[in-house]
Amino acid sequence: MVTNFLQNHHLQNSQFLLPKRQFVTYALYALIPLALFHYLLFNPVATAKKPVVVVQVREGAAVIISSHHEHVRVNAKQLPIPPSDQGDEVLKKDAKAEQVAAPPPPCDYSDGEWVPDARPPLYNGTSCATIKDGQNCMAHGRPDTGYLYWRWRPRRCDLPAFSPDAFLGWLRNKHLAFVGDSLARNQAESLLCLLASRSPPELVYRDGEENRFRRWAFREHNATVSIFWSPFLVKVAEKAEHAGVRHNNVFLDSFDERWLSRLGALDAVVLSIGHWFLIPGIYHDAGEVVGCHDCAEFNHTEIPFFGMFKQAVHRTLAEINRRHVTGGADKNKNKVVAFTTFSPAHFEGEWDKAGACNKTRPYKNGEKEAGYTEAEMRKTVVEEVAAAAAAAGPGLRFAALDVTTLANLRPDGHPGPYMRSDPFAGGAGPRVQNDCVHWCLPGAIDTFNEILLQTITS
Ligand SMILES: *[C@@H]1O[C@H](CO)[C@@H](O)[C@H](O)[C@H]1NC(C)=O
Ligand SMILES: *[C@@H]1O[C@H](CO)[C@@H](O)[C@H](O)[C@H]1NC(C)=O
Ligand SMILES: *[C@@H]1O[C@H](CO)[C@@H](O)[C@H](O)[C@H]1NC(C)=O
Ligand SMILES: *[C@@H]1O[C@H](CO)[C@@H](O)[C@H](O)[C@H]1NC(C)=O
Repeated sequence: MVTNFLQNHHLQNSQFLLPKRQFVTYALYALIPLALFHYLLFNPVATAKKPVVVVQVREGAAVIISSHHEHVRVNAKQLPIPPSDQGDEVLKKDAKAEQVAAPPPPCDYSDGEWVPDARPPLYNGTSCATIKDGQNCMAHGRPDTGYLYWRWRPRRCDLPAFSPDAFLGWLRNKHLAFVGDSLARNQAESLLCLLASRSPPELVYRDGEENRFRRWAFREHNATVSIFWSPFLVKVAEKAEHAGVRHNNVFLDSFDERWLSRLGALDAVVLSIGHWFLIPGIYHDAGEVVGCHDCAEFNHTEIPFFGMFKQAVHRTLAEINRRHVTGGADKNKNKVVAFTTFSPAHFEGEWDKAGACNKTRPYKNGEKEAGYTEAEMRKTVVEEVAAAAAAAGPGLRFAALDVTTLANLRPDGHPGPYMRSDPFAGGAGPRVQNDCVHWCLPGAIDTFNEILLQTITS
């Protein structure tokens, strides 16, 4: 039935096709952890009873209807997709605009190395109550602790250790929101634990069924931290296997108002998406299917997801700019929008066997380059953030949290089998599920928030 739906929306261009080698690289990346991604990205949060997607069969065609939020249309003419042959032109223009409008940041935190550090983490599974079960590695019996004793040392400057006082001082009378997928949540939960080492957060709101929307208050500081689930930033009808929908249906021309409608009340936003673009998806724009990833069963030409990712990022940042201006921004406020770049996974070994990440030390510099997919996803965010910064009006600042390199060097930072408690308790049974996408708490992702602190207070 979904097939019929798609047959009415034939792909009409092939401008997103990559050269063959690149295609193979990214296709392989998509294949390797596919089964694992499915498990990791969906199952831990797939407890919703409420169907997100309703599939109605009508006159032989399936119509996919989102049962949730408003479908807000954007005038596609305002935000044209640059044809691929003009891409360079657009980038050159952005780069020029960047030179004029955005001075270089005081420190390039993205370039550096991991060095041993004897200081213990600010929190652990005992002292912090909000660590998600699947990331509570110590409590789940992870035997090695060496991964906790590293700090990121930028090459040309200093990255101060995280200061809960400095962060809470900045956050006084403010609201900071993390928006994105489960890595956004992972980073938010790291921050909550770091701040909890000084002041206990109080959960003041949560979405009843999935914990996908939560808000905490730090009463002493009148500070608020919240998490909004939005794995594409734009609107999506998430896949629903029980209803026979294997693909996410992403609407590039519709914003996700579940978070974007709150923009006016937010003082800082941390955006973090990427991994959901690697799993099967159908991309819609102006009522047509413009891209399809992992769609062999529909006989569609495979379309790389990079262009779709760029569109989602570009349109979201442009809309933040637009709403900031038209929303009558408070001149006394200075809103910060930080965008965390792609956080690489580390499934290693033979993908059809273990797919594990059992390293216990960081890579040395140069030992492991970021893969093609990771590098492309990172570059897209860096470029789009620079373009948005160049276009930003007063009282609005954009920054990239460029963590891809430092995260790529931490194969030892993931839960691996310790996403579950005592994974080897039953002896060497059938193969153990590994999480090599998210990060143990405490752990390497705490560094993302050290950089966030420097970014928002700079
Ligand atoms: C956890 O943190 C608390 C508070 O800092 C500390 O007292 C305790 O020793 C830590 N536990 C472990 C296992 O590190
Ligand atoms: C508390 O913080 C909110 C923003 O989260 C702000 O609107 C409000 O004015 C603050 N209250 C006081 C008393 O400053
Ligand atoms: C896809 O193509 C194959 C081979 O040409 C054909 O057998 C199959 O029916 C097609 N599937 C759809 C959904 O059109
Ligand atoms: C990690 O996994 C590889 C491949 O499965 C294995 O050869 C190696 O012994 C493992 N290392 C540790 C420390 O368990």
